[in-house]
Amino acid sequence: MAKYRVAWLPGDGVGPDVLAAARVVLDRIGLDAEYLPGDVGWEFWRREGDALPARTIELLGNTDCALFGAVTSKTKSAAEEELDPRLQGKGFSYRSPLVRVRQLLDLFVCLRPCKAFPGNPLNYRDDTDLVVFRENTEDLYAGIEFNGVPEEMKLLPGMDRVPPDAAISLKINTRGGSKRIARAAFEYARKHGRRRVTCVHKANVVRVSDGLFLDTVHQVAHEYPDIAFDNAAVDAMCMSMIRHPQNYDVIVAPNLYGDIVSDLATQLVGGLGFGCTGNIGKHYALFEPSHGSAPKYAGQNKANPIAAILAVRMMLEWLGETDKAARLEAAVADTIHEGQVRTHDMGGSATTQEMTQAIVARL
Ligand code: IPM
Ligand code: MG
Repeated sequence: MAKYRVAWLPGDGVGPDVLAAARVVLDRIGLDAEYLPGDVGWEFWRREGDALPARTIELLGNTDCALFGAVTSKTKSAAEEELDPRLQGKGFSYRSPLVRVRQLLDLFVCLRPCKAFPGNPLNYRDDTDLVVFRENTEDLYAGIEFNGVPEEMKLLPGMDRVPPDAAISLKINTRGGSKRIARAAFEYARKHGRRRVTCVHKANVVRVSDGLFLDTVHQVAHEYPDIAFDNAAVDAMCMSMIRHPQNYDVIVAPNLYGDIVSDLATQLVGGLGFGCTGNIGKHYALFEPSHGSAPKYAGQNKANPIAAILAVRMMLEWLGETDKAARLEAAVADTIHEGQVRTHDMGGSATTQEMTQAIVARL
């Protein structure tokens, strides 16, 4: 029996291309694991009306962690147009499988390390090294939305000012949810010798829900006197991260602002080919490259595999395989630093497989 059971979810678009690269790396590094394939993605939405079939959720329940490639997600109306005609009008509604997995398995931490590898021609600066802790289950991602004002809501204070043609999405932050993401960020800072945690919010306008988030993170900060704490409104934060990215260390944010600032931060260190994500709960985690499925590059051996390979690095670390994780990170860093092999996004012409081989050769 293998030591670990890993759910293997390539998805669609370039997902299978970059997970193939991840697999080459895992085999070379010799992780004692069994990889169990699972169905997820656009094909399953079209054919079954569910991009995340129940059998896949069951598979996640029977594994230690998961590696995920990418899936295509579209706006509601575009998705419904593509649904198998036999299923149409039967009440299926497209929701991102990724968002569902995060909520179903309570993977409340979305961890996004954004570290510049020296020699990457796409770096904004070579000394950016920050980590985003995005809350991964609450906020506007709660999925509680209404077209029009529900009768039951009409009696609430202020609702008389809302016109009947309103579309309403509820932003839900809880004290408990804010506390656990704050703790995760401060614990990480302590463990990794980071000096500062910055809380992102818009509490000057969204006073109640963002106010609660900021207030809770601030309270948690008192438990960590060894770590500096500050906060910034999300708009000012975006300017400041571009101006002085080297000043940031650990960033903690509610779901939507975290989604946005983590993309910004990823671009500072090379963009789509370099962003990886750990969706981490108490007992389970799902790792993925942060990029999307880029359907037009599917199967073309063109996508930069580094993001998926860095997701493997995070997975190794989470499993406690820290030596293997460090070796892999060094192999990626050396390959980038040497600069002989560059994928299209890096201004070169190396294929997915060539980049993967270059990294594997240094392992
Ligand atoms: C991300 C993505 C997802 C999100 C999408 C694909 C639903 O942007 O992982 O950041 O909004 O969380
Ligand atoms: Mg995003």
